[in-house]
Amino acid sequence: MRRQGAGPRRCRTRVAVRRGMGPRRVLLSRCDGSCADPLMRASVREHFPRVMEPNDARRLAASGPADLGRSFCIVTGASKGLGRSIARQVAALLRPQSTLVLVARSGDKLKELQAELAASGAGEAGGLVVRLVAADLGAKDGVERVVREAREASSADIEHLMLFNNAASLGDVSRYAQSFTDMDEVDSYLSFNVSSALSLTAGVLQAFPRRRGLQRTLVNISSLCALQPFPSWSLYCTGKAARTMMFRVLAEEEPDLRVLNYVPGPMDTDMQVQARSTLDPKLRKAVCDMWSQGQLLTCEESCSKLMMLLLKDDYQSAAHMDYFDL
Ligand SMILES: NC(=O)c1ccc[n+]([C@@H]2O[C@H](COP(=O)([O-])OP(=O)(O)OC[C@H]3O[C@@H](n4cnc5c(N)ncnc54)[C@H](OP(=O)(O)O)[C@@H]3O)[C@@H](O)[C@H]2O)c1
Repeated sequence: MRRQGAGPRRCRTRVAVRRGMGPRRVLLSRCDGSCADPLMRASVREHFPRVMEPNDARRLAASGPADLGRSFCIVTGASKGLGRSIARQVAALLRPQSTLVLVARSGDKLKELQAELAASGAGEAGGLVVRLVAADLGAKDGVERVVREAREASSADIEHLMLFNNAASLGDVSRYAQSFTDMDEVDSYLSFNVSSALSLTAGVLQAFPRRRGLQRTLVNISSLCALQPFPSWSLYCTGKAARTMMFRVLAEEEPDLRVLNYVPGPMDTDMQVQARSTLDPKLRKAVCDMWSQGQLLTCEESCSKLMMLLLKDDYQSAAHMDYFDL
């Protein structure tokens, strides 16, 4: 995708192209060549157009439909960061009488978002129903409460089931893998980041079984860490790799499903704040430089590309698609 605007702007970066898994990946590194880390995706804004709003997603997806249909849609981790942007942007793309379920632990933040959406065009004119589940997805009860919402809402009127498995945590990045001797600690991380995603997805699919006229879309918010190891991020890399494989298996088993593993790129969120305390010095420098040099994406930018993918709906099911490849 080419930068829009008047004529080519001079690029401050050295661009290398790697061929490998999936589509061609462009790695950008700084001119002095000191950091070849793929996380160091310098000058993002010079290479990619800013895409901010649902209307931009519609414009980019010009060949696809203008909305996502009458939907039952769940967004986990909707209280902040990327999840909140997904909730805002998807709300504007749902047909009237759709239901949007927002999930996170922070009930107050979910309520604020609910009020905002109720006052928006989707809420006032579109009759969007926004339901909240303030729950810890690391606990069985939390997952069951979301599945209950899906069971109660399941009806023949729904044209599109969408589940955004977005909630995740970075885990303790202040330690190397060999320090994780406590199995309970590891289990607790995997319980939220892997097990809950599978149980939730399975429960929601059972609530909305395959039927004619129903599209079922599963979005897994993934990461480059699903494919590539990063020192001191053992929990996160393990969780993302497991989750991605899990969704690939689901796509094999249920050919009617539309499954998308979306890599949103480095975004300016609380997770990035935590990432700046990474133990590994080279990785910490790369993460800190991205932030101090203003190279992080906004959640809205990344989310617009995700919405474009969903509107166009021409991705290969189970594909692992990266913001930077679109
Ligand atoms: N930020 C990045 O640079 C980046 C890069 C690549 C991929 N990603 C991925 O993008 C997704 C969103 O990340 P983000 O940066 O937006 O993260 P974030 O700002 O830390 O937000 C995480 C969300 O998950 C929720 N959450 C955390 N623990 C939970 C739990 N136990 N139960 C229920 N909800 C929980 C949080 O809400 P509560 O605290 O209210 O529960 C919050 O809404 C994640 O899958 C992440 O791995 C992020």
